[in-house]
Amino acid sequence: MNTTDTHAAHAHHGHGGADADAAVMAEVLELDAEVLAAYLSELTAWLDELSDREPGRILDLGSGTGTGAIALARRFTQADVTGVDLSPHMLHRLSKKASALGLADRVRGLQADLNEDWPESGTYDLVWAASSLHHMADPDRVLAGAFDALRPGGLLAVTEMDFFPRFLPDDLGMGRPGLEARVHATLNQGPAVDWTDHLARAGFVLDTKRLFTIDLPAPLPAAAARYAQVCLGRMRSRLDGQLSAEDLATLDTVLADGGPHSIQRREDLTVRTTRTTWAARRP
Ligand SMILES: C[S@@+](CC[C@H](N)C(=O)[O-])C[C@H]1O[C@@H](n2cnc3c(N)ncnc32)[C@H](O)[C@@H]1O
Repeated sequence: MNTTDTHAAHAHHGHGGADADAAVMAEVLELDAEVLAAYLSELTAWLDELSDREPGRILDLGSGTGTGAIALARRFTQADVTGVDLSPHMLHRLSKKASALGLADRVRGLQADLNEDWPESGTYDLVWAASSLHHMADPDRVLAGAFDALRPGGLLAVTEMDFFPRFLPDDLGMGRPGLEARVHATLNQGPAVDWTDHLARAGFVLDTKRLFTIDLPAPLPAAAARYAQVCLGRMRSRLDGQLSAEDLATLDTVLADGGPHSIQRREDLTVRTTRTTWAARRP
């Protein structure tokens, strides 16, 4: 999604500045990895099927806290994985997680700005970029870098979130159903980028563009409720004056800790979203 994470900059209720924003964003990413673990496993299993041989070196572009890097290291147990990210905070969390899981010898973080010169000189079997390419100032340049970094036959997996997850029941909204739909419509998250032509221009041959549908039914575990609370909370911070007072009041009640309607107590939360992955090969 081209606008997806620009929201991080506006996401925080408090006044902690960039560090606090990074911490909120990191929590969202970590909850995302936890709540959507089954989807992530399906995705890496599929890449395993598509790979012409067991990957030995993997590069994760815009790794964040390591959702992809860690999932790939677990799937491909012989591989060394490098996660590249601009943010030292994200990379710190990636290293912590890798150590906690006993993967520190195979997963490393590399702090670099992908808008600058290509950070790595090595050759890779698999390059991964999840919810990150749309952040880059010149994604075509990053794709060209990925092409050069892959060995012939190597695989590139680009994933984007098609739209922000939905969590609330459709009938929520104080006599006017559809509160969450109004939240999303108000924030006007633009359409996701289609990378198909960009990949071809960079020299890749598209293997498959695959849609993953995520539809986790109620009741959800506590981590999913927290995920819903943090995601909706980030949106709420941008909605003052943009939704009716009734809608804002309902949303605040849902987001508040405790209380009978709080997200933490609700048994009707679901997680509904789709993500698209382009799997392409360097010929
Ligand atoms: C939405 S997060 C996705 C993180 C991770 N790939 C995931 O799926 O959870 C986007 C990440 O891209 C990183 N990023 C954005 N622009 C970047 C750049 N120019 N160079 C390197 N990393 C960048 C951000 O710091 C952030 O960690």
